[in-house]
Amino acid sequence: MVLTLIGAPGAGKGTLASTLTKQLEIPTISTGALLRDEIGSGSELGKEINALISNGNFVSDEMVSSLLIKRLQQPDCKNGYILDGFPRNETQAENLPNLGIYLEKAILLSVSDSEIITRLTGRRECPNCRATYHIKYNPSKVDGVCDVCGAALQVRADDTPEVIQKRLTIYHKQTEPLIQFFRQKGLLYEVDGEDSIDQTFKNTLQALGVTL
Ligand code: AP5
Repeated sequence: MVLTLIGAPGAGKGTLASTLTKQLEIPTISTGALLRDEIGSGSELGKEINALISNGNFVSDEMVSSLLIKRLQQPDCKNGYILDGFPRNETQAENLPNLGIYLEKAILLSVSDSEIITRLTGRRECPNCRATYHIKYNPSKVDGVCDVCGAALQVRADDTPEVIQKRLTIYHKQTEPLIQFFRQKGLLYEVDGEDSIDQTFKNTLQALGVTL
């Protein structure tokens, strides 16, 4: 199965993907994580990407597509995958077949802007294994320490109030038109993303017609 998750920044795409990937036994490919890995490598490209992301801007379609294509060539993608964060504008969506990506379902996680702000301002991320927490909704067992690998948790560089606002504005302008794009193709599955983490997972399985 080849799926994509659509939703505003902080809607819970990464959190949902972490359980969905186990349930469906296919990998999740997050373009945001691929870009952050490139930043972490310290390459010149990574520096260029960092300047864009930390200000809330999109990376160019060419840059993100080339990283994605490289990742999709790995053997673990041969039985399908979940895309988190791609496509993110109409150009990327229209170019999917040229990248050899044939989406079967697009899951839209609907969350209000006010809830997005609460989620992103309380998010904490492990810089080592990328596990994600929320200070209130999904706290780590020991405050500030990753449950999985023990590293010190951090606030993502793009989770400052000004950058969150900018990311939301760009989402409404550039990504939201994809809802109609996928609806017209009959691929859209809408999920209420304002429920708890567990319930959102259940809502998604129900929308996909998957039984536990
Ligand atoms: P990316 O990393 O994809 O960022 P994003 O889309 O802004 O999404 P987030 O990762 O911020 O949020 P999420 O929806 O995964 O929420 P999460 O599960 O963490 O991309 C980063 C940047 O890279 C972009 O801004 C752009 O610059 C660039 N980029 C990426 N792809 C690109 C592309 N295709 N083209 C161009 N540029 C691209 O949850 C958020 C918080 O809420 C967490 O604390 C979590 O614990 C909590 N939470 C989650 N679900 C729930 C729930 N149901 N109830 C309560 N709390 C919850």
